Amino acid sequence: MAKMRVGVIGCGAIGSEICKAIDRDEVNGCELGLGMELKFLMDKHPEKIEGLCKSLKQEPDIIKSDSTGLAEILEAVDLVIESASQAAVREFVIPALKSGKDVMILSVGALLCEGGLFEEIESISREKGCKVYIPSGAVAGIDGLKSGAIAGIRSVELTTRKPPLGFEGNEYVKESGIDLFSIEKEETLFVGPAKEAVEHFPENVNVAASLSIAGIGSEATKVKIVADPSAAENVHEIEAKGKFGKLFVRVENVPSTANPKTSYLAALSAIATLKSISHPIRVGT
Ligand SMILES: NC(=O)c1ccc[n+]([C@@H]2O[C@H](COP(=O)([O-])OP(=O)(O)OC[C@H]3O[C@@H](n4cnc5c(N)ncnc54)[C@H](O)[C@@H]3O)[C@@H](O)[C@H]2O)c1
Repeated sequence: MAKMRVGVIGCGAIGSEICKAIDRDEVNGCELGLGMELKFLMDKHPEKIEGLCKSLKQEPDIIKSDSTGLAEILEAVDLVIESASQAAVREFVIPALKSGKDVMILSVGALLCEGGLFEEIESISREKGCKVYIPSGAVAGIDGLKSGAIAGIRSVELTTRKPPLGFEGNEYVKESGIDLFSIEKEETLFVGPAKEAVEHFPENVNVAASLSIAGIGSEATKVKIVADPSAAENVHEIEAKGKFGKLFVRVENVPSTANPKTSYLAALSAIATLKSISHPIRVGT
């Protein structure tokens, strides 16, 4: 069978893990069986690509630092992976879909922040018969939410806990007059709809977006942000209630070594999605 040809946009923390997984077809000694081929790499910072290429067994044919000649490059692949930024979703995902290519989107927050983008992507993919893959990212429980949503979900609440100094520099926290250095026991910094939460806590945007899309939308999904001195890392808790019953999931994330703002699980979820694309048996909803 012909290998699936993949192009990756954004060679940072997540993109690099994805590229290495495709190149070696294993992660930490665990075989993947993807049988995919890296065809192009794109990053607006060429040094990111250079650094990554040093750790690849086989350098891709096409290396680019901007979108010139994009239509031609897209011809060389079957799947385009966006692991760059919200702006890159419009810049690369839309043309890729228009060229009839399947895509994977990591900067899922773009679908919540740019009005009409989700609908546009949905409409082009229907028209072109393409798939859009959105990995679970830094959270778990998306499978249960999707299943529960079939019969109706009453509520979804995301609680994100971080050590107080993890909020240092956040404008909303500063304006609220909260002194992060004096927090000794857990303190709620924000409670409100996902749509509003992402304006004040943009670092939460991807998790809020995937949950909103899988469940009941960004106005009904509730987000609680907590500064918790007992939290060693980013902790996400999801509680959902519906006709199916009640779901509670807690993920204690290990940060990526390349980008401490990104959870390692986000990169692994993208690789797991590649595995579900390439394997004949797909477990989980
Ligand atoms: N789905 C999730 O749960 C989840 C979790 C973490 C991060 N993310 C998102 O995934 C994306 C990648 O995260 P990361 O930690 O790898 O980031 P990163 O900063 O480590 O890497 C991003 C790379 O993309 C490049 N880039 C950015 N915009 C570009 C553009 N328009 N064209 C070409 N290259 C561009 C940058 O130069 C950088 O090398 C971010 O948007 C991040 O918010 C999603």
